[in-house]
Amino acid sequence: MTESGIKKVGNDLVFSGVQPTGNLHLGNYLGAIKNWVDFQNSKKCIFCIVDLHAITASENRSKLDDFSREVAAAYIASGIEPKKSTIFVQSNITGHSELAWILGCHTPIGWLNRMTQFKDKAGKNKEKAPLGLYSYPVLMAADILLYKSNFVPVGDDQKQHLELCRDIAQSFNRFYNTDFFPIPEPIITGSATRVMSLKDGKKKMSKSDPSDQSRINLTDSEDQIRKKVQKAKTDSMPFPESKNDLENRPEIENLINIYSAIGEHSSEKIMQDYKGKDFKNFKEDLCDLLISKISKISMEIKKLLSDQSYLNSILSDGAKEANELSEKNMNEIKKIIKFYT
Ligand code: AMP
Ligand code: TRP
Repeated sequence: MTESGIKKVGNDLVFSGVQPTGNLHLGNYLGAIKNWVDFQNSKKCIFCIVDLHAITASENRSKLDDFSREVAAAYIASGIEPKKSTIFVQSNITGHSELAWILGCHTPIGWLNRMTQFKDKAGKNKEKAPLGLYSYPVLMAADILLYKSNFVPVGDDQKQHLELCRDIAQSFNRFYNTDFFPIPEPIITGSATRVMSLKDGKKKMSKSDPSDQSRINLTDSEDQIRKKVQKAKTDSMPFPESKNDLENRPEIENLINIYSAIGEHSSEKIMQDYKGKDFKNFKEDLCDLLISKISKISMEIKKLLSDQSYLNSILSDGAKEANELSEKNMNEIKKIIKFYT
C-alpha cells in the first residue's frame, strides 16, 4: 500500500472485465470470474465493469447503473475481495476512451476486419452496425494496456481479441521504439472455458439468448436451477465412458465440463463414476453441486444489492485507485508520443 492507501502495482498485474448487461450466467462464472479469485493472493488485480463496451449494442443501453452494481455484487459474491482487488466502472476513468483513440491509430483496419465477434454480432447488416461495435476490440486493448496489465483471464470467446491486443501493443512499441506496453498473456483455464447453452450444445451460453432455459443465471433460485438442469438436453445413448464417446454429443460434453469445473473433478473421473448409470443420477448430482455453489452466490448477490451505499463506496474507492494508475500511465504515454503538454 502507498501512503494514500493505493495498492502498489507490481510488474505482474491481472486485468479482466465483464459487461453490465444483466443476466450474468454460469459461463461468465466458470469461464471468467471463478478463475480470477486465486490471483488475488499473489498478484495485483484490477476487475473492471466495462460499461463503455456494453453500449456498443443498443439493447444494452438501459439500466447500466443497476447492472453495474449487479456485476460488482457478483464479483464480490464470487470471492473477489475489494480490500485485495480494485473493482471499478470503466466509464468513470477517462483514460480508457483516450487510449482507445491512440491505439486505434496503431490498428490497421485489416486486423479489425478479421474479428469474428464483430461479424457474428453485426450479422448481415454491417453497414448499419455502429462504429463502436467495430472498434470494440481496440477499446478492450486500451482497457488492458492502460494499466500495463500482464495477465488477462477470460473465456475462450475472447482469445482473438487478446491476440489483437498483443499485436496492437507490439505495433505501438515498435513505432515509438519503446517497450512501454507489456505484451499481455491470455489466461484461458479450467474445464469450462466455453460453456454451451443447455438447449443447444453448439451454441455458447449467452446473456442475449432469448430463452432463459438455455442458461443458469447467477441469480437463479435453487428451484430454477433444478428445473433447468432437469430439462437440459441429453440423448438416449448410454453415459459416455471415455472422451471418444463424446464425439458429436456436444450437450453431454457440456454437462460433463460444467460438472468438472464446478465440482473440480476431471472429466475422466466423472465418466468412470457414472458409467452404466442413468443420466438422471448424473443430473441430480450436478444439480446438488450447482445449487451448493451458485445458490450461495445468488443469495450473496441479493444481500449485497440491498446495500447500494456499500456497493457505491466500493466502486468509488476502486475508481480512485484505477484513476491514479491510469493518469500516471497516460502521462507517460503522452510523453512517448510527444504530445504538447
Ligand atoms: P461478457 O458477459 O461478454 O462481458 O463476458 C465476460 C466474461 O465471461 C469474458 O471473459 C467471457 O469470455 C466470459 N464468458 C462469457 N460467456 C461465456 C461462456 N459461455 N463460456 C465461458 N466463458 C464465457
Ligand atoms: N470483451 C469482453 C467480453 O465481452 C469484456 C472485456 C472488455 C474485457 N474489456 C476487457 C475482458 C478487458 C478482459 C479484459 O467478454
